[in-house]
Amino acid sequence: MSDLQGKVIAITGGAGGIGEATARMAYAQGASVVITDREAAAVEAIAKSLGERAIGLAVDVTQREDNQRMVAAATENFGRLDAVFLNAGIEGEVGPFDSRSDAAWEKVFAVNVHGVRFGVEAALPALRTAGGGSVVITSSVAGVRGAAGLSPYVSSKHAVVGMMRCLAAELGPEGIRVNTLNPGPVDNRMMRSIEEQASPGHGKEVHDAFAAKVPLGRYVTNEECAAMALFLMSDAASGSNGNTYFVDGGYCAQ
Ligand SMILES: NC(=O)c1ccc[n+]([C@@H]2O[C@H](COP(=O)([O-])OP(=O)(O)OC[C@H]3O[C@@H](n4cnc5c(N)ncnc54)[C@H](O)[C@@H]3O)[C@@H](O)[C@H]2O)c1
Repeated sequence: MSDLQGKVIAITGGAGGIGEATARMAYAQGASVVITDREAAAVEAIAKSLGERAIGLAVDVTQREDNQRMVAAATENFGRLDAVFLNAGIEGEVGPFDSRSDAAWEKVFAVNVHGVRFGVEAALPALRTAGGGSVVITSSVAGVRGAAGLSPYVSSKHAVVGMMRCLAAELGPEGIRVNTLNPGPVDNRMMRSIEEQASPGHGKEVHDAFAAKVPLGRYVTNEECAAMALFLMSDAASGSNGNTYFVDGGYCAQ
């Protein structure tokens, strides 16, 4: 029996590459899952393809009330909440630091930082009722390293590492563990967008240059990231609190 058997998990960004893979793998391991993303249709279709222990719900993480609805969906339908995977994120626009508009910065921070904050705030009462639990926040290698042209994104992913460390210190005594998942480049939509923005029409060359910087010689997969998220939400990670967990093919080792 898996450690996720009987657990109730809520996921943001659940229609995206990493989020959907996590929802599917958590379900396969026996968890009940509330799968959320901006558009109802995509997450409802994923939930329907899984079965009765899955619910799809439209949630905009930048809206405090939407995060509260996500938690209510877990407690009302499945009776409790054991873990949240705060994974929704946007890459924003790629370009030089002094060409970024206020709106561009604010949009990235609204989703990647305040969206996580609202998710934690919404989940806390239910996690306390459950007697403890796990919060997993998707940061990035961009949470510990810089990258030219990606200042709003990189700053936002650093911010949630700081938030995670504060939360781990505050909530550890209550048995609520908080950690970040830090993927390297993942073979999915977000990297296609970054590659194409970095050099329009030459995304493949950008991809190959990024991949060459990874000791494994390739991008990681959605499923490899999901596996780490599932571990952190499971009881197998009962001693893991306040840390960054990398799935980066060795990118940060250099
Ligand atoms: N793809 C990568 O290379 C990579 C690397 C490191 C970290 N990450 C992080 O992984 C997480 C998941 O991204 P992904 O790689 O699966 O890309 P993705 O674009 O496929 O998934 C992100 C999902 O977040 C959703 N989202 C965006 N804004 C939202 C909002 N306001 N409310 C609710 N949902 C919203 C999107 O609709 C999308 O489904 C993100 O936080 C991303 O920053 C990705």
